[in-house]
Amino acid sequence: MKTIIEPFRIKSVEPLHHTSREQREQFLAEAGFNLFLIEAKNILIDLLTDSGTSAMSTAQWAAMMRGDESYAGSESFFRLKRVVEDLTGFRHVIPTHQGRAAERILFTVMCRAGHTVPNNTHFDTTRANIEFTGARAVDLPLPESSDTQARLPFKGNLDVAGLERLITVEGAGRIPLVMLTVTDNSGGGQPVSMANLEAVRQLTTRHGIPLYLDACRFAENAWFIQQREPGYASWSPKQIAQKMFRLADGCTFSAKKDAFANIGGFLCTNDDRLAAQEKDLLILTEGFPTYGGLAGRDLEAIAVGLEEVLDTDYLRYRIASTGYLGRHIADRGVPIVEPPGGHAIYIDAGRMLPHIPRSQFPAQALAVELYRHAGIRSVEIGSVMFGENAKHELLRLAIPRRVYTQSHIDYVVEAILEVNARKNELRGFEIVYEPKFLRHFSARFQPLTGHGQI
Ligand SMILES: Cc1ncc(COP(=O)(O)O)c(C=O)c1O
Repeated sequence: MKTIIEPFRIKSVEPLHHTSREQREQFLAEAGFNLFLIEAKNILIDLLTDSGTSAMSTAQWAAMMRGDESYAGSESFFRLKRVVEDLTGFRHVIPTHQGRAAERILFTVMCRAGHTVPNNTHFDTTRANIEFTGARAVDLPLPESSDTQARLPFKGNLDVAGLERLITVEGAGRIPLVMLTVTDNSGGGQPVSMANLEAVRQLTTRHGIPLYLDACRFAENAWFIQQREPGYASWSPKQIAQKMFRLADGCTFSAKKDAFANIGGFLCTNDDRLAAQEKDLLILTEGFPTYGGLAGRDLEAIAVGLEEVLDTDYLRYRIASTGYLGRHIADRGVPIVEPPGGHAIYIDAGRMLPHIPRSQFPAQALAVELYRHAGIRSVEIGSVMFGENAKHELLRLAIPRRVYTQSHIDYVVEAILEVNARKNELRGFEIVYEPKFLRHFSARFQPLTGHGQI
């Protein structure tokens, strides 16, 4: 059979709420044209993020019932620890309430002013947590990846020659760790090859620098390796993931992505001395090392999710459904970051709307119009989010795991194509209020001209 179906059936449903165009106009105006400020009940299809938005399985819900809520020594922790040890091989598993808590603890222990931490592309919380310690976060993506249209199989790879130059200039002593984000979220959800991981491992070993994975989407990355990298076609996603983790000295992980959990994360390391310091910090802000900011039931959901996410049928469907959205809009003239990534499709709004200058936020204009037209929520990843540092003006359509069916995605395709057909009518925005930090969450906008005509 050629048709790839959702590898699950639906046992419990959550109603969606239709709104009229007039209502959406009103919600937009009230929210200052910032989709973060619209109540979720007024969103029809929510593609804001794939983080914490997964549908859990019957097995996860069942496991939650046996959650052991003991303050210390919870059985649920040891179940999670066994699963993580089998998957990653890391000696220390430190649970946290989500990925950024793992980042904060790791960088607080390892970084200080004068240090530099390279990555293929730092996620925004990763960068912020590094910079908060006084250290510098440096992105080293492949130079070819800056072309959104280039179709490279492993566009998330780290620029190894660039890393070598950085080590020569900085000196290994000022680089406390190298990170590799799999898949590269800020770079378009693009995968990293095993060969690249091995090359980074070799280089960091030569210089005595620890290598950590930002492993949020490790399973999607493993699937791309199986499908695209010579030599791995007969490996299972789990075997590939096990090899990926064993090339690293530790990892940070947000269980809100490739563990289908609505909350949770962990930090792993093989370094006993670091682990002791990390657990001290953990007790200060997250909790005792056998629960780390989570309920026992959350630990259970993560343990089950980590095994489910490596299922071949699931990963085939997951990557095919993201690609389905990407191909159906790109092949009809909507420029996306090519090739489609694992968890999201990124529309290159700068290219789609050349009449809207960067200073007027083309991807924000597109996000607003997609909501106004069809009730779809997406997120601007461009000059609103990154200011002067934005490399592109992108609109991200992140796909929650196991939540939407093909007809939902067909609806999204139809809406995007309709907006694309009259893209010349879209107008830019100006910011009328912005907070001091992370302005995309609460900035307010005003349409420049043409609002109400489209
Ligand atoms: C690559 C990457 N790293 C880290 C994080 C932070 O994880 P959390 O949202 O659980 O704090 C995210 C979240 O989206 C991410 O995509």
